[in-house]
Amino acid sequence: MMTPSDVKATLAFSDGSPTMELPIYKGSIGPDVIDIRKLYAQTGKFTYDPGFLSTASCNSTITYIDGDKGELLYRGYPIEQLAVNCDYLETCYLLLYGELPNAAQKEEFNHRVMHHTMVNEQMQFFLRGFRRDAHPMAVMTGLVGALSAFYHDSTDINNPEHREIAAIRLIAKMPTLVAMAYKYTIGQPYIYPKNDLSYAGNFMRMMFATPCEEYKPNDVLVRAMDRIFTLHADHEQNASTSTVRLCGSSGTNPFAAIAAGVACLWGPAHGGANEACLNMLGDIQQNGGVAKIGEFIKQVKDKNSGVKLMGFGHRVYKNYDPRAKLMRETCHEVLGELGLQDDPLFKLAMELEKIALEDEYFVARKLYPNVDFYSGIVQRAIGIPVPLFTAIFALARTVGWIAQLNEMIGDPEYKIGRPRQLFVGAKSRDVKPIGQR
Ligand code: CMC
Repeated sequence: MMTPSDVKATLAFSDGSPTMELPIYKGSIGPDVIDIRKLYAQTGKFTYDPGFLSTASCNSTITYIDGDKGELLYRGYPIEQLAVNCDYLETCYLLLYGELPNAAQKEEFNHRVMHHTMVNEQMQFFLRGFRRDAHPMAVMTGLVGALSAFYHDSTDINNPEHREIAAIRLIAKMPTLVAMAYKYTIGQPYIYPKNDLSYAGNFMRMMFATPCEEYKPNDVLVRAMDRIFTLHADHEQNASTSTVRLCGSSGTNPFAAIAAGVACLWGPAHGGANEACLNMLGDIQQNGGVAKIGEFIKQVKDKNSGVKLMGFGHRVYKNYDPRAKLMRETCHEVLGELGLQDDPLFKLAMELEKIALEDEYFVARKLYPNVDFYSGIVQRAIGIPVPLFTAIFALARTVGWIAQLNEMIGDPEYKIGRPRQLFVGAKSRDVKPIGQR
């Protein structure tokens, strides 16, 4: 809840224009916000904040991040406790409804999700229209958007029942769609969901089973997959979540809004970072491996090179990303289980991490490894092809997007998102006939 503060901000102008008093609101934790909603009406001026460095776009009760402390809370619960004590579907329940489920609620929710895993049979014909070598995120953007063409009975964003069923459908069907997109690229038959498996176990089976033999999910790998899902489930108002909110603010249907989130997530500065990180490790490996790290770091520090250390740095975390710590642990567990401790890419990653954590350039800028630094290595070890990494991030983030979208729709103060601008282009001028231009 936004609590008004006793303190007010005063905006003064050096040209003698009247001052303006701005209310301040307090959250339950985190920075206060200055309410500028009446600024334009009273002063005729906008604020200027490209990239939203100082702007709270909404109030929210879902996820809290303290970037300086390296703290991440879902509905108040530290990510470290959720990752160890709860599975992904419990986390989904928490994000959607605000509380962790009790045993009966958990069973009922699992049943509901796991009985919506199948997709309309027509979806496979839609999928067939794509090139087999299409990037999975291109395919996912299309498939998720297309869900609105298949599930007409849950497209009214203003109807709470529609929102609820769309939420369950999206969470349930994302693993099926990601696995179908994968099977399509490798020319194997789609594997239908098996609803008595766990959410992550079912996903692994749809990814790796064939109709020719029994598939037995490995518990360590299933747990790792589930943890990847949990760690990526929500991250407050990041680029893709803000995209979903903005897209949904026009009243569009939930499937279309989530498809917009998938498209935004694809970028290498956001969800595409795990793929970019693994490609980077592969390049260094090919060009001489650990011995060439020094040279690579030099390039990263050279602003003209355009090279970034992928998987490092974060807009909000100016400390170790708590998800990276958990993912690092999982990484060791998975490589141990698969006997890949001597995996050259993992060794290279560890060496890069060590150097970067000690190097003045990274220390001064508070650049720490983020979750993508390790999640790529884990996924590669599990057998997931690199181009599919971001699609798995999208699968996991879907619940966060929906929870945030539903929170926005339920907020009586919500309006269509419509940022303003500082116009610096040509003033009004006349069009000349083509011969005179
Ligand atoms: N490698 C080298 N230098 C970096 C890096 C990096 N990965 N990240 C930031 N910097 C430098 C940047 O050049 C700038 O230096 P200077 O002050 O000398 O100009 C300084 O650090 C601050 O960077 P910034 O660009 O102001 O930071 P930002 O908050 O705008 O960008 C970021 C955050 C995530 C886009 C950026 O750190 C980055 O591109 N990292 C690599 C991509 C990556 O791993 N992204 C995944 C983010 S976590 C997953 C998710 O939430 O989607």
